[in-house]
Amino acid sequence: MLQEIKDLYNSKKQRSIKQLFEDTNRTKDFSIKFCDLLFDFSKTNIDLKTRKLLIELTRNCNLYEKMEEMFCGCKINKTENRAVLHTALRAIEKKSIFVEQINVMSEVIRSHSLMKCFVEKVRSGAFKGQGGQITDVVNIGIGGSDLGPAMAARALSPYQSGPKCHFVSNIDGAHMADALRYLNPRTTLIIVASKTFKTVETMTNARTALDWMADKVTFPGDQFVAISSSVDNALEFGVSKQNIFRFEDWVGGRFSVWGPIGLALMVAIGPKNFQLFLEGANSIDKHFRSAAPEKNIPIMLALVGFWHNQVCGYQTRAVLPYEQRLCRLPAYLQQLEMESNGKGVTLDGKKLEMASVPVVWGEPGTNGQHAFFQLLHQGNQIVPCEFLVAASGHEQNLSHHHNLLVANCFAQSRALMLGRSISEAREIAAAEGFRNGELEQQAKHRFSPGNRPSTTLLYPKLTPKVLGQIIAIYEHRVFVEGAILGVNSFDQWGVELGKDIASSITKFVNSVTKIENLDSSTEQLIEYIRRHKE
Ligand code: F6P
Repeated sequence: MLQEIKDLYNSKKQRSIKQLFEDTNRTKDFSIKFCDLLFDFSKTNIDLKTRKLLIELTRNCNLYEKMEEMFCGCKINKTENRAVLHTALRAIEKKSIFVEQINVMSEVIRSHSLMKCFVEKVRSGAFKGQGGQITDVVNIGIGGSDLGPAMAARALSPYQSGPKCHFVSNIDGAHMADALRYLNPRTTLIIVASKTFKTVETMTNARTALDWMADKVTFPGDQFVAISSSVDNALEFGVSKQNIFRFEDWVGGRFSVWGPIGLALMVAIGPKNFQLFLEGANSIDKHFRSAAPEKNIPIMLALVGFWHNQVCGYQTRAVLPYEQRLCRLPAYLQQLEMESNGKGVTLDGKKLEMASVPVVWGEPGTNGQHAFFQLLHQGNQIVPCEFLVAASGHEQNLSHHHNLLVANCFAQSRALMLGRSISEAREIAAAEGFRNGELEQQAKHRFSPGNRPSTTLLYPKLTPKVLGQIIAIYEHRVFVEGAILGVNSFDQWGVELGKDIASSITKFVNSVTKIENLDSSTEQLIEYIRRHKE
């Protein structure tokens, strides 16, 4: 099947995206509307035949059966022998989902109401620090225990009320020091978020925060909350039992913002908005499960991605939210997509015979336009772009800003598709006063090849519900992509090696211990640090 799609690609390679618009139905046929969302993938080189073959891929990999297995609690994360049920955390209407004969929904409901109850106390002032009402919350976590709540809290800043939320992830002491500098330990709540409660960054940061608090607070443990799958590890760290929010191992780190890991987000935006966030995601779950592939946003988003990466061979993909508050979305998606599907073996342990997922990167527009868009328009490598933009911003008094933002977003996708022909470039150079040979030279620099693909996701406004929808779309895209590649999207063994090596060389960095069993390059790097350390 893949070969057939590649042959089709090769036979139509010369055709431009622009040409495809000769079909007057193109925009309608290659767009999907769901709720108030509009996903337009017409500015790609996918035609009806290509779309049909791509959809065949989903049949060949039994996508819908796999989807049901996930939603129903089967242990599809085979290498860790776990179910994958982040969707249960937002399955508002479900009474029962079973994992090994245990109905997980009662626990989901219980844990959400515990979160809600705690958050209400923090926001109302019923839960106090030693110095009175909590003014600041510091979420200490990394990867999935940071990126989701941190990205979402920033995205939903217009909905924030109550204590100010801060997020510390990096083991670089600068991150912690900068976050704590202006905070009052007597009115700060620390949330230590870690699925395993073993991650070295989080544990180191948590101990530093504890020391900082212990200086000014008699019982610092009372202002500490733990979120983890491992209650034992949290207890061992010293968090008291009533301050531990537990979640099940069937919630993967990078899919965990919907449950207790979202506690800081719930503190920031309040339980009602958090509920709307869940409802948004839940609406996409239903859409994903029921819509036909050609009308299914996550499926088509995944197939467009597959086409660009595995068929056309474009090795990176830019995510370009024209929404400043989504500035952390690219980082969030880097973990979601690259940790999930950046794999080299299939589920049955065979070598993956095609490219793993592309490198995902990006920045909000219009900032990116003044940085890397030059390469997008004229560089030799083609980078498919994913634009996201809202019909309205939250700043009604600044709607002229929003109009410019939208115009820029649409201008970029159009410019990428149409480019600037050499004759248009000549006209521009001529108008600037260039003539003859110089005009030809100048025209070459102003030429843009165009025919560069992009998709656009439009939404009414970045509300909690819409953010929930956007994240769930991307989560399911990862699922579809993983199913087609045949990999396990829910483990992350690749990150272990670096962790192991870090723990084995820390002693050499720390002390004067004789450096041994290392390559000479690493040895040299450590010696440099030892020599130059203040
Ligand atoms: O480094 C990989 C990873 O395990 C991620 O998958 C995870 O989100 C992150 O580390 C943090 O893990 P934990 O929540 O257990 O601290």
